[in-house]
Amino acid sequence: MFQTIDPKQLNKNVFSLLEEQWMLITAGEETKFNTMTASWGGLGVLFHKNVATIYVRPQRYTFEFLEQQSEFTLSFFDVSHRPALQLLGSKSGRDTDKIKESGLTPITTGTTTPYFEEAELVLVCRKLYAQDISPEGFIDPSLHSFYEKKDYHRMYIGEIVQAFTK
Ligand SMILES: Cc1cc2nc3c(=O)[nH]c(=O)nc-3n(C[C@H](O)[C@H](O)[C@H](O)COP(=O)(O)O)c2cc1C
Repeated sequence: MFQTIDPKQLNKNVFSLLEEQWMLITAGEETKFNTMTASWGGLGVLFHKNVATIYVRPQRYTFEFLEQQSEFTLSFFDVSHRPALQLLGSKSGRDTDKIKESGLTPITTGTTTPYFEEAELVLVCRKLYAQDISPEGFIDPSLHSFYEKKDYHRMYIGEIVQAFTK
């Protein structure tokens, strides 16, 4: 079962968490929400708060929920759940009930925004700041190669207001 922890107690390597384990970004409410796999992001400190940063392209269905809601959750899993994350990162919730298909179990114990029973770490984040990645800011011109369709990610910085681990 999940236990609430102080984010300062987190003893995971952030690079492994994001690049190897990946995460699910979930936004919405129990009756209507969406989730997607992400591996770009960060955990850190800003505005004297513990924060998580995520980067979401505007065509994602999850983007619509992120725009409407004041919070989002990040769920991290052990590698045994990689097939589910692969599925949730390759299909859109606009077209299919991919969450049901993934076999993962959404729950809202102690939160408004759903997260997943099978996760080993969950961060509940309150949106503080959002801004689109802008090509004017590209110092390394190779960054343009990520945006042939000009679908610049929106960066969301959220205060970590709750953290659950098992
Ligand atoms: C490993 C992995 C990492 C991903 N990271 C991101 C990311 O950081 N930002 C993003 O916008 N999309 C990312 N995606 C793509 C979305 O997960 C994918 O487009 C998904 O189908 C969107 O679902 P939705 O339309 O239901 O929101 C990633 C996909 C995978 C498989």
